[in-house]
Amino acid sequence: MLRTHTCGELTDKNTGQKVILAGWVSSIRDHGNIIFFDLRDRYGITQIVCNLNQIDESLVELVKKVRQEFVIQVSGTVVERSPETINSKISTGSIEVVLERLSILNTCQVLPFEIQDSKNINENTRLKYRYLDLRRQQLKENIVFRSVFTSKMREFFSSENFVEIETPILTRSTPEGARDFLVPSRLNPGSFYALPQSPQLFKQILMISGFDRYYQIARCFRDEDLRSDRQPEFTQVDIEMAFIEEDDIIDISERLIKYSIEKSMGKEIKIPFPRLTYDEALSRFGTDKPDIRFGMEILNLSDVFQNSGSSILDEIIKSGGTIRGLVIEQGEKVSIKDVDAINEFVIQKGGKGIGWIRFRQTEIVSPLKKVLNESTISNLRNLFEIKPGTLLLFLGGQERWVCETLGEIRLDIGRKIQLVDENSLNFLWVVDFPLFEYSQEEERLVCVHHPFTSPKIQDIEILDTQPLKARSRAYDLVLNGTEIGGGSIRIHQRQLQEKIFSILNMQPSEYNQRFGFLLEALSFGAPPHGGLAFGLDRLVMILRNEDSIRETIAFPKTQKGICPLSEAPGAVDENQLKELHIRVDLKPKE
Ligand code: AMO
Repeated sequence: MLRTHTCGELTDKNTGQKVILAGWVSSIRDHGNIIFFDLRDRYGITQIVCNLNQIDESLVELVKKVRQEFVIQVSGTVVERSPETINSKISTGSIEVVLERLSILNTCQVLPFEIQDSKNINENTRLKYRYLDLRRQQLKENIVFRSVFTSKMREFFSSENFVEIETPILTRSTPEGARDFLVPSRLNPGSFYALPQSPQLFKQILMISGFDRYYQIARCFRDEDLRSDRQPEFTQVDIEMAFIEEDDIIDISERLIKYSIEKSMGKEIKIPFPRLTYDEALSRFGTDKPDIRFGMEILNLSDVFQNSGSSILDEIIKSGGTIRGLVIEQGEKVSIKDVDAINEFVIQKGGKGIGWIRFRQTEIVSPLKKVLNESTISNLRNLFEIKPGTLLLFLGGQERWVCETLGEIRLDIGRKIQLVDENSLNFLWVVDFPLFEYSQEEERLVCVHHPFTSPKIQDIEILDTQPLKARSRAYDLVLNGTEIGGGSIRIHQRQLQEKIFSILNMQPSEYNQRFGFLLEALSFGAPPHGGLAFGLDRLVMILRNEDSIRETIAFPKTQKGICPLSEAPGAVDENQLKELHIRVDLKPKE
């Protein structure tokens, strides 16, 4: 071993011991006759002190050669620090190691950026030198946490009798709503594998095979536009069970989350998590992934604004629209400028603008002050127990648009006036999703989840007549306003699966060609089954209080889907293409 201890291990209990440490020189402080190194490894930092007057000349020469991020091995004696130099922020802060021998194991070029500041630099540079970026303590801790967290999940799964099974990466398209990444097959010219968007169909087939409790920490691939919580390859904690209903999956998921968070973070998680129906989530929070860390729910104001004196509002209500609003108790924290920006946002979203009233002791301030009736104002005050200083924002129009727009405004204001407790973890199930929605773009019904999701039994009879009214047996888990998981009870009967495909406007020839293997499997004794998948990267991102999943993945891609470290994707040899019978028209960009 090149070391006797790690750099995060020594305390005053080791005083007097001879030790050998190895690591990277995180910083050098030269005080003339005394030089301090902060020596860093995965476990922490230990201060090395070299008193140039007390070591022989060859060692002095070597010490002077050391630069930042050199890899060194030091031997020395552990001594206690004097009380005024104790650093209580680090675990080794009460000791230092007095240098007696030094080996430079490797040198390091001038760094492209300071390791500690790497979070703030240009993303391309950061990812090009990801190995340096990963030396930063916080990022390293994220990656280590992720490993601990998944090991706790595995512990839970095996204690609950789940079987971990790997499913293919070279496969056929699994429709989860994104584009596929395709891989040409050399042995089958002109044919392509698709990388899995999820293990969905294989896990269902495993249920048909009789593995009634499956899990996998599975890599998934989706060619979609990237955001801070989306990567082209990401990881799901994927679960499927047979002979179960919604509550069984919900229960196992809650206990999994509770176990792995409590065991990895020591943070108490209360279960069961609250549940909201999709309709309620939309009308109260304007989104199917509500952030319930704060209230300020969307209120229906249509009744209060009946005959309010404003002809614009009357017109909206008469034409079947709705008026909804947000009561902001800390209204004085929202400036005129903020309200202008909200107004601008509403106009950008196709509206005419936002209505607002600031309540003073007896007076109000509002662009509608002159037209609004006294009774409307006093009704508002009474109904919503409005206190002086409150700002009411309201918006009229078609219900869905109004709620969604107010939902975005609610989040924005909530963050701005710091209603959100950044340390809390608020889990919420959203249930009773519609099975289908209408896609204007594709001019047909599409699934809200994937096409293997079962309709509610009582809604099967309206599939033909009112498909948009049919609800599904799907559930999503939301944490602090981010969807961290989703799943459903599946269709396990061939006829119903075929019916869903035809409602989606697929001809038998098409669905047999794409999903014939599933349909066939369903007709060989498929048990009732269902499951769920968590987005591991997103879950870890929130647990670590990060704002991007790139902070939880060792080698993520840039917004353009590029890995600057390995320079993927890249051009390939003409010969490789020939073997695959592929001709490329476009030259890849430099
Ligand atoms: P779904 O498509 O909802 O369901 O995905 C499950 C969870 O995966 C995460 N996720 C992503 N994370 C990072 N980058 C992405 N591009 C990305 N896309 C999705 C989300 C999401 O909640 N087969 C079904 C699950 C099931 O029905 O069992 C599925 O994949 O956190």
